Amino acid sequence: MKVGIDQIGYFTPNKYVDMVDLAHARNQDPNKFLIGIGQKKMSVADPTQDAVSMGINATLRYIDKIDKSKVGLLIFGTESSVDQSKSGSLFVKSALGLNPTVRAFEVKEACFGLTAGLMIAQDFVRLHPDQTAIVIGSDIARYGINTAGEVTQGAGSVSLLISSHPRILELNEGHSAYSEDINDFWRPNYSKTAKVDGKYSTQVYLDFFKHTFSAYKERKNLETKDFAAIVYHLPFTKMGLKANRLAVEGTDEETNARLMDSFTAAKELNANVGNIYTGSLYLSLLSLLENGKLKAGDLVGLFSYGSGAMAEFYSANVVEGYEKQLDKVGDKALLDNRSKLSVAEYEEIFSAGLEDPENDVELTSDEEKGRYYFAGIHNDIRQYQVK
Ligand code: HMG
Repeated sequence: MKVGIDQIGYFTPNKYVDMVDLAHARNQDPNKFLIGIGQKKMSVADPTQDAVSMGINATLRYIDKIDKSKVGLLIFGTESSVDQSKSGSLFVKSALGLNPTVRAFEVKEACFGLTAGLMIAQDFVRLHPDQTAIVIGSDIARYGINTAGEVTQGAGSVSLLISSHPRILELNEGHSAYSEDINDFWRPNYSKTAKVDGKYSTQVYLDFFKHTFSAYKERKNLETKDFAAIVYHLPFTKMGLKANRLAVEGTDEETNARLMDSFTAAKELNANVGNIYTGSLYLSLLSLLENGKLKAGDLVGLFSYGSGAMAEFYSANVVEGYEKQLDKVGDKALLDNRSKLSVAEYEEIFSAGLEDPENDVELTSDEEKGRYYFAGIHNDIRQYQVK
């Protein structure tokens, strides 16, 4: 049976910082951020956008195109959770008007959260082919002002509809997973910003890529040249470039050029949004689908990595007519319509985001009409409203 990705929606908040401005403010050569890290801009979430509101806004991008009565599963993957108990899925379910019969919950394993949800959703749809599943990854990446990780921050969400009649990608059975209990990146309950051993994290990422990619090829009897493209979890685009260089090592010239070209297409959205943790791999997939040269049947490899650490490599085939399911113009407009913040404005918003508002302080949003936002806390309960 065919199971795969039928819809992809993404959302990023309406403000950004330019990496050249950030480099100047931090006394760095702009080329370190633009080339060495590979980022151009990073989205900034003000206090009215959190994991839940961004997840709703990402799913709203396609909700009118689907049969809501068929959604039987709603999984919310995040490491920017808004509550220690209640899952983000339930807020999303209300906002979208989904059936009370939907199974809704949240999952966590750093940036691997959306992939974990996708794998559960895939099994669910194989068992219940008449139903669909929504899987959301939504996060705000926060390292702190003037830290080495600052240039790798970002905010946004990606939402996927998984179905037995996928119109974008058909997921192939089988995968290669690998995990180890390590401390490359984590966020204790008492901290709003991540702790990270930056250089170590990049080394582990590459080691896990080598391991899962070669195990996958062996298991599925594939060679690197069989892939039309490989997409990666992109905490910053240079990270994926390093993994892609490992992938093409020892391949023929044509494969090398194809995988390098497809990587260029796949990094475009991420270079302008920044790290969105759980959604990053899927933002890169969207970028590839919109900017690459894929054709029906092409094999795409996907490498998911979550610190702590858990990685998985799997693959999918491109479905005929996939372009018709995308909204390239709308996706570009989300980036183009953002307003540029000065570094001082970003720092103020960043600091405000470290605190929750007091009860009954009403927040107002400057997002466009129709977007959901976090409106404040009443009786210790978070309130979400539509603009
Ligand atoms: P750093 O110490 O600021 O940077 O930290 P650097 O000194 O290593 O320089 C970075 C690159 O810029 C180097 O290139 C320099 O040569 C180059 P590389 O050797 O890597 O190829 N460079 C220049 N290039 C051009 N012109 C110049 C110039 N100057 C220097 N003038 C680091 C960088 C990524 C470590 C830091 O930003 C950080 O800690 N980021 C956060 C951690 C991270 O993103 N890790 C990625 C792997 S872990 C992961 O993906 C999981 C994660 O998403 C979380 C989750 O799972 O939830 C993070």
